[in-house]
Amino acid sequence: MKNITVSGIILAALFLSFCLPQPGFASEALRKTPFDHEGPYYPVTSREDIDYDLTRVRGRDASAKGEILHLSGVVVNTAGKPQENSIIEIWQTDPQGRYDHPGDPSPGKRDPDFQYWGAVRTGPDGTFYFKTLIPGGYQPRPAHIHFKVLRDGKAILTSQIYFKKAADSSPPDLQTAVLQQKTAGEYETFFRIVI
Ligand SMILES: [Fe+2]
Repeated sequence: MKNITVSGIILAALFLSFCLPQPGFASEALRKTPFDHEGPYYPVTSREDIDYDLTRVRGRDASAKGEILHLSGVVVNTAGKPQENSIIEIWQTDPQGRYDHPGDPSPGKRDPDFQYWGAVRTGPDGTFYFKTLIPGGYQPRPAHIHFKVLRDGKAILTSQIYFKKAADSSPPDLQTAVLQQKTAGEYETFFRIVI
């Protein structure tokens, strides 16, 4: 309970720090989230339009195997205004670094209980949430989650999220999300997308 409360406070503080005007910087435009490559493994399987939970597959009883990641975030414009009605699509590897894509040459078995994609729509406050797994890396790339932002059916940003642990003091980066450990085997993070 204590962990949930403390981590909830941290996430709320992060959210407010992203959304509220900053003293002395109110007139400065936010830097846009950079484009990053779509890569060759954009999902080709049929899928529902909206599904926030990658740890469950419809019609199956078991949950995906791996460390849980609660991926929260917000979409804002360069003036910091929340962008509602944006579709966020994500796709990623499982913890073994394997995609659900016929072109992925990685060895190993795909986890049938992991849904390798997700999609959500932002609400009036621009926020979104996915329940997923910490992705595994694959050579030569670090672990990452691919995403697209769509408005009115058109992709307006394609990019990737990278991760670092909270104890890592390397400088912040527009594409790096900080992992806060919630419980054993469970992490959460907050990622801002600026369009
Ligand atoms: Fe990738």
